[in-house]
Amino acid sequence: MGNLSSCFTGSSNTTHDEDVLPDETFTASSSGISGTTTSGKVLFSETSSSGNSGYSFGDNPSFGETIKLGPSGEILERPNLRVFSLAELKSATRNFKPETVLGEGGFGKVYKGWIDEKVAVPSKSGSKLAVAIKKLNSESMQGFEEWQSEVNFLGRLSHPNLVKLLGYCLEDKELLLVYEYLPKGSLENHLFKRISSMEPLSWERRMSIALGVAKGLAFLHCSERQVIYRDFKAANILLDANYDAKLSDFGLAKLGPSGGNSHVTTRIMGTYGYAAPEYVATGHLYVNSDVYGFGVVLLEMLAGLRALDMNRPSGQQNLVDWAKPYLSSKRRLRTIIDPRLEGQYSLKVAFELAQLTEKCLVSNPKARPCMREVVEVLQKIETIEDKQKENTTNSKRSTSANSERSGYHRRFPYHRNGILSQSQ
Ligand SMILES: Nc1ncnc2c1ncn2[C@@H]1O[C@H](COP(=O)(O)OP(=O)(O)O)[C@@H](O)[C@H]1O
Ligand SMILES: [Mg+2]
Repeated sequence: MGNLSSCFTGSSNTTHDEDVLPDETFTASSSGISGTTTSGKVLFSETSSSGNSGYSFGDNPSFGETIKLGPSGEILERPNLRVFSLAELKSATRNFKPETVLGEGGFGKVYKGWIDEKVAVPSKSGSKLAVAIKKLNSESMQGFEEWQSEVNFLGRLSHPNLVKLLGYCLEDKELLLVYEYLPKGSLENHLFKRISSMEPLSWERRMSIALGVAKGLAFLHCSERQVIYRDFKAANILLDANYDAKLSDFGLAKLGPSGGNSHVTTRIMGTYGYAAPEYVATGHLYVNSDVYGFGVVLLEMLAGLRALDMNRPSGQQNLVDWAKPYLSSKRRLRTIIDPRLEGQYSLKVAFELAQLTEKCLVSNPKARPCMREVVEVLQKIETIEDKQKENTTNSKRSTSANSERSGYHRRFPYHRNGILSQSQ
């Protein structure tokens, strides 16, 4: 959820505030699911007796059956979540021991814990599952709405590039969420925290992370009832053991416009440096406002620099303002690419990526590509890279064979010692 230290909240100059997903979700559904917590509070209430089973997002009557979206994503009819007791989560984290903290955002601290795995096979009972437990900080400006938003969205959306929410706890005013544990942590840590034990993320990994989260966003945007993520940033992208990327933190997620509207008007929330200019200026949130945030993260990965950094010289503190002009020239692009990536990419591919980044960052949300197009471009870039690798391997093979005969050496396609091959 928006990091409050760098997060902004404020009212838009419009009066139409739809930033109340939970109410929309629970009151408008044809038949909500019901559930109570151990503290007796009603979380999900029956809202109608229309006889339609299933609970829905917003005013969409009901998805009814489980909706499948593409081969890998689906919207579950109802959240399939476990209710945890506070005692269970205390014991999982050794009473929220500081040593178990994995990270912290605007909602509160996230702890690593171990819970009993509920398995079907009795002989396997007793095995423990690593989880991440997010606990509301009592001083946070966030609270029940953000918590409920995560339960509603993440509890029902299932996709390989979205983090899995396993359950929740609401007890004694404590709000907690329990997720699958992602061992490689956040993209933010990998890109910006100079930890000696951490290898810098390779070009290949950055590309696969970009494609992964692009697919996650495309899934949200292309669902029957569009979902706007609203807080796309490196800290909200988590990596599993294979560095596969997953979007986490649905605290600020919102349903997209309905009834032919192009945008929703809402309280302005998010994170400076990533939020789209039209949203910050007017409170008008478009599905494509997420595309802007995606462009900022692409730029961060390309440059290896944070979207905002007050420690940089003036004129360079805002990455987009500073680096955008460099994206349109192949020659100038080299100056802003993360030096840790030297030798790992071809300028041709980097330029393709720069052009995509530039398109995502245009001021007019309607002129930005949709996430499905972004996925296509990234897949095309992946294909170019695969071909280049293949060519390099083939040329190396033939070079070693030919060089013995003729001494011919094919030009290496990647830049060496910071000097880029013109052929790329
Ligand atoms: N499932 C998880 N596995 C590992 N680390 C996590 C997990 N969830 C969160 N974290 C860590 O905690 C940080 C804050 O989590 P986030 O969900 O963004 O919280 P907030 O809603 O407070 O912003 C992340 O940037 C990451 O470092
Ligand atoms: Mg967060």
